Amino acid sequence: MKKDEIKKLDRQHVIYPWKAQRGVDPIVIDRAEGIHFWDADGKRYIDFCAGLLCINIGHGNQHVLGAMKEQMAKFTYVPPSFATEPKSRLAGMISEVTPGDLDHVFFTNAGAEAIENAIKAARKFTGRHKIYSRWRSYHGATAGAITLTGDPRRWYAEPGIPGVVKFFGPYCYRCPFGCERGSSGGMQCLETLKTQIMLDGPKTIAAIFIEPIVGTNGILIPPDGYMKGLRQICDENGILLVLDEVMSGWGRTGKWFGIQHDEVVADIMVTAKGLTSGYVQLGAMIWSKKIWDHFYDHPFVGGLTYLGHALACATGVANVEVYRSESLIEKSRINGEYLGQKLKELLEKHPSVGDVRCRGLWACIELTSDKETKAPLAGFADTRMNVSSGLLKRLYEMGLHLFAKWDFIFIAPPLIITRDEIDEAVSILDEALEYTDSLIGK
Ligand SMILES: Cc1ncc(COP(=O)(O)O)c(C=O)c1O
Repeated sequence: MKKDEIKKLDRQHVIYPWKAQRGVDPIVIDRAEGIHFWDADGKRYIDFCAGLLCINIGHGNQHVLGAMKEQMAKFTYVPPSFATEPKSRLAGMISEVTPGDLDHVFFTNAGAEAIENAIKAARKFTGRHKIYSRWRSYHGATAGAITLTGDPRRWYAEPGIPGVVKFFGPYCYRCPFGCERGSSGGMQCLETLKTQIMLDGPKTIAAIFIEPIVGTNGILIPPDGYMKGLRQICDENGILLVLDEVMSGWGRTGKWFGIQHDEVVADIMVTAKGLTSGYVQLGAMIWSKKIWDHFYDHPFVGGLTYLGHALACATGVANVEVYRSESLIEKSRINGEYLGQKLKELLEKHPSVGDVRCRGLWACIELTSDKETKAPLAGFADTRMNVSSGLLKRLYEMGLHLFAKWDFIFIAPPLIITRDEIDEAVSILDEALEYTDSLIGK
């Protein structure tokens, strides 16, 4: 099909997410390999964001594609009530890499569905109804997950599901409690949360849902001790700790899971994205022993037609094999340190760069209009001020794909990226940031 025909049909019939349809003008993609993809005119782009932070092993991995073909030749789907080799193997492989006793896997189609099921499990297990989540968070676009979400994507879905309560977590660049970075800021967050829980009634709270490192709200890395303190608050009050590792999992932060930087074990973990590196869609809710023990004798009333889809699970098995055979978790840690150093140079150089946060091959540049006061450049007025869209336009012209929103520029390349490729991508970004610099004072 010719590019113009694809585009014509697309604009006549395809609905794009999160925005008004007028003005949608997508690049037509033709093929992808490694850390690159090419458009229908043959132009090459560096995928500096692993698609939408999911293609962790890179595009077109032959081991995974081979395993998918092999599974397709046997069967692609049987109902969830049957056992299959790919489902058993993937569940076993997940339990090998998840921390502690998170050993029991309920497969879903993606991240948001895993969150929905975790809400249900937490409420049933505790017999309590309230769910706590953070203001600066994203948990998915389905009814429950978007209600848990703290950022403006929630506004359009309100009133949402009942019983969801928000709290402030650590955001050390711009601390809601006025603490300096590196001080005991995290502890002030915890003290305030303790008071909130006391006033709200601890016995009404089923679970706290948290991204161990916040993703699309700015790669917010908690200060040392925060996660342990949160675990303690949960334990003292019979509240479950549910970790959303949809984005932070699978090597993105230089460890298998983001929480492993803090040595805390969740009661329930939720994941997706890097579980199959996006080759096909798959998510998972993972239970610790105490949750498993409860549902051993009580039904978990939840299910999905495609739970444990054989093709998706076979893809996941091969994908986890690639993480191991190509030492991608280690590479993310080592090359992530290099990426962090390169981005710090942009912080020194550009007046519009207020902060750089990086863990593993996962980084955020936060824009500001004033380094001293840390005033936002556009903040939630991004669309009106054309900041991220103006920046992305320039980046695509120069052949770089990444994700930018509000004052955040996200960098999350496939974990196979080399240092030379990081250099190439960062120099493009360096040039494009002249655009955001030029907006200061306007
Ligand atoms: C932290 C987090 N949780 C949940 C989700 C929702 O996952 P999905 O889009 O696969 O439903 C996302 C998606 O970006 C996410 O970043």
